[in-house]
Amino acid sequence: MNSSPLFPDAPAITPQVRVDFDKLEANLHRMQSLCTEVGIDLWPHIKTHKSVAIARRQLELGAGGLTFAKLSEAEELLPSGVRRLFIAHSLVTEEALARVAALQKQVDQIVVALTSLSHARVLAPLARQAGLTLPVAIAVDSGLGREGLRFLDEGRELFEFLRLNSHLVPVSIYTHEGHAYGVAPMAHQEIVDRAHAHLMEFRKVLGDNLPLWPGCSVTATLFARKPEVALVRPGAYLFGDLYLSEIARTIEREEVALTVRTRVIDRPTPHLALIDAGSKTFSGDKTPEGLSASSFDSRDLRVTRVSEEHGFVTGSDVDSLRIGDLVDFIPAHVCPVVNLARHLVIFGNDRPEQIWPIEAGGCSY
Ligand SMILES: Cc1ncc(COP(=O)(O)O)c(C=O)c1O
Repeated sequence: MNSSPLFPDAPAITPQVRVDFDKLEANLHRMQSLCTEVGIDLWPHIKTHKSVAIARRQLELGAGGLTFAKLSEAEELLPSGVRRLFIAHSLVTEEALARVAALQKQVDQIVVALTSLSHARVLAPLARQAGLTLPVAIAVDSGLGREGLRFLDEGRELFEFLRLNSHLVPVSIYTHEGHAYGVAPMAHQEIVDRAHAHLMEFRKVLGDNLPLWPGCSVTATLFARKPEVALVRPGAYLFGDLYLSEIARTIEREEVALTVRTRVIDRPTPHLALIDAGSKTFSGDKTPEGLSASSFDSRDLRVTRVSEEHGFVTGSDVDSLRIGDLVDFIPAHVCPVVNLARHLVIFGNDRPEQIWPIEAGGCSY
């Protein structure tokens, strides 16, 4: 066991964010093999793991680059050896472009997001002032209603704008289909077909040589074989969570690689157990049914309410729990759970447990 002064005695300490190494490897391999087989690139989004060791492993297995939301994530994960980066966020300050310039000197390519015509009007002068020529991936909204072009006319205007602004060089069109998450599996194909048709329409006005970069954990395998798709950017696929295993069903429950080990700390009334993990471990994210987490084993134990440091466990098996018992839970949404933790406890068949730091934990700037 590696010991860390911050986390000296892993088996005894709870709550503990645990990763089954063999399942992690299987999930990483499955996505990479599909991309390799169909001949597209995989640039996984590191927002889910925020860890140098895992980023390095994704690159070793064949990822062509990595996707980031924030510059600080990229800065922290440079030791992974990443050479090609996509910053999938709207950068709007001089300070941000100075950081992009510093990163550019250390890698082969940084692509940044261009998320609307209004954004282009801010980003282009900043790039000119900074003396940068920025490769940009143009965002199209495919239904989430967050960043991205909504109308073809805006696309046409953006095309004209970019023709006159040599500091922003379009290299692709991307979308994030986050709206596929809350939807039953049989609707995924339709969401992907519609989003793909939408991207192809925008491609006609933005540049018919531009490759498409869609694909999150719910949609990546469906997008992988679509025409003009050159790259997918799933994030949560490597761990899985309740959203992916119970709602989107793109991963089996047995394939979920990350669990949170908690301890029962009180049984204040029948039908209720309190555990030592609340919103500061599970975050405030819940499934549509209102669960923060559900037990990894077959018992019916659900975290139905959280305060900062307490989880309220209910379910038909709750009365079998005693103070001191350990219970492993699958969180509703894995990304914020990792962001709130400092270490991952890695375990697996015949492996001594290891502790991996989460170098970019809390990096939201
Ligand atoms: C721009 C962008 N790309 C990729 C992803 C990865 O999504 P997921 O973790 O669902 O695979 C996200 C997730 O929020 C995102 O915002």
